[in-house]
Amino acid sequence: MTLSGGKAHQFGARELRDALGCFATGVIVVTGVDSDGCLIGVTVNSFASVSLDPPLVSFCLGKSLRSRERIATTKGFALNVLREDQGCLSVQFAAEEIDKWHNIDYRRGIHAAPVIEPNLAVFQCLKYAEFECGDHVIIIGRVEAFEHDDKEAPLIFHRGGYRQLL
Ligand SMILES: Cc1cc2nc3c(=O)[nH]c(=O)nc-3n(C[C@H](O)[C@H](O)[C@H](O)COP(=O)(O)O)c2cc1C
Repeated sequence: MTLSGGKAHQFGARELRDALGCFATGVIVVTGVDSDGCLIGVTVNSFASVSLDPPLVSFCLGKSLRSRERIATTKGFALNVLREDQGCLSVQFAAEEIDKWHNIDYRRGIHAAPVIEPNLAVFQCLKYAEFECGDHVIIIGRVEAFEHDDKEAPLIFHRGGYRQLL
């Protein structure tokens, strides 16, 4: 067991990240089209369901990400939930300075946002709200359409690595 902190902020970012990594999540690729018509794709695990009525979901993006300004220009986006066999897509969409869309199959969805195929689930969203929060922005989407494949298992991210359920 590791204990950090006590008085405000007596810990480093690394220690905090290690503790946060205990929380297992799924993995999502946020996709959209920027104002130049270029495809956006970025891996996130900060997804959360927010509200059922209206149907709202959220994710957080680092302010320093190149994708952050590009997402800001979109009217909507798609949140593509990855399957257990799609760890390589997570890596590809988390990389910088590469063609993230090389060899990726997709169809166009609402707001022209790419829907990655295959997928475990997809939530197509209208951008609903955006809040600055520390070094990230919280982006809220209003779900306009969704699909899911109940026969497939999710990709899991835990303690900095990819895992599978059982
Ligand atoms: C599993 C995983 C989860 C990630 N989750 C987030 C996240 O929630 N928010 C975020 O800003 N970056 C997250 N990242 C990092 C971004 O994917 C990465 O910095 C981004 O794709 C860089 O591309 P860009 O510079 O083109 O925006 C995550 C990376 C991985 C591998």
